[in-house]
Amino acid sequence: MEYQIGVISGDGIGPEIVREAKKVLDKVAETYGHSFRYEEILMGGVSIDACGVPLTEAAVVSARAADAVLMGSIGGDTTTSSWYQLPPNLRPEAGLLKLRKELNLFANVRPAYLYEELKGACPIKDELIGEGFDLVIMRELTGGLYFGARTTETVDGVLTATDTLTYNEHEIRRIAVKGFDIARKRRKKVTSVDKANVLDSSRLWRKVVEEVAKDYPDVAYEHMLVDNCAMQLVRNPGQFDVILTENMFGDILSDEASMVTGSIGMLSSASLNDTKFGLYEPSHGSAPDIAGQDIANPIATILSAAMMLRFSFDLDREADAVEAAVKEVLKEGFRTVDIYSEGMAKVGCSKMGDLICERIGG
Ligand code: IPM
Ligand code: MG
Repeated sequence: MEYQIGVISGDGIGPEIVREAKKVLDKVAETYGHSFRYEEILMGGVSIDACGVPLTEAAVVSARAADAVLMGSIGGDTTTSSWYQLPPNLRPEAGLLKLRKELNLFANVRPAYLYEELKGACPIKDELIGEGFDLVIMRELTGGLYFGARTTETVDGVLTATDTLTYNEHEIRRIAVKGFDIARKRRKKVTSVDKANVLDSSRLWRKVVEEVAKDYPDVAYEHMLVDNCAMQLVRNPGQFDVILTENMFGDILSDEASMVTGSIGMLSSASLNDTKFGLYEPSHGSAPDIAGQDIANPIATILSAAMMLRFSFDLDREADAVEAAVKEVLKEGFRTVDIYSEGMAKVGCSKMGDLICERIGG
């Protein structure tokens, strides 16, 4: 089959990790007889430098026209980069938020999985980790505080900033359905996370999730307050299968979950809408401090490409092959510096990509 892939290399380590993911996709294409055509799309700081805005209308059109978009990372050092002298709506991150909204990418899937080989990197004590964990955060991505009205104004002589958190029942229902659907393909448990003891938006969230749950009698579900969830993630992450939550809570909890795996450089993510289209990106940021040194870990981006093969192209066998190749390379002891431990073989970004390619297709 032939697929059109939009590629957002972005800023910082973005270009080098995306290069490795494309290498892996090319190996998949060659091995399994597919054809992937890439079109580079500018977003983030590189787009500000080239076009004056973090995402042009033309870039949105290109992304929309692709079967899926693979992204590296965007943004720079927020204290030193001139991009952060610009008004908030012209900074790199505004490009990503605009793309999510324009393409209606309301469902953000962020798996957090403890690799047997990387158990040593997990910051939690062995007795709490037990058998390890394998969870997915299903984060609502186009609503809530991120997209509500905001103002900064002087009220009675006092500088005052306001952000608004709004959800309607439709927005909650469609993400809840995605959460229960994915749970059905896994261990059949949904933990819906909210702050219903304080927020109206959370009380509505809870009500709608309960309605949706009725359609999934085979899936167990529970409600959990977000502060408790933050605690449970470091106390007993193995209890979770699918964590279903709103935008801001999901942003925070997904960073926490990734840290619990000990290796944010390993975690992939997918942002989906109601079609087969998806935006696939690593869960980590652009790490400008290590950009261009060939030491970044490309695995999260490579695993995001595997998610693209699975979710957008229905190429399960190919996705399995990429995931198996990653596991194989780890088993053989190859590590980028972020996941390195004594006695392992330290490799750079490009070498890691090569090693994974070599393990695809025998
Ligand atoms: C993420 C990031 C983004 C977010 C930023 C870059 C706007 O932290 O994808 O989690 O907050 O959603
Ligand atoms: Mg985040």
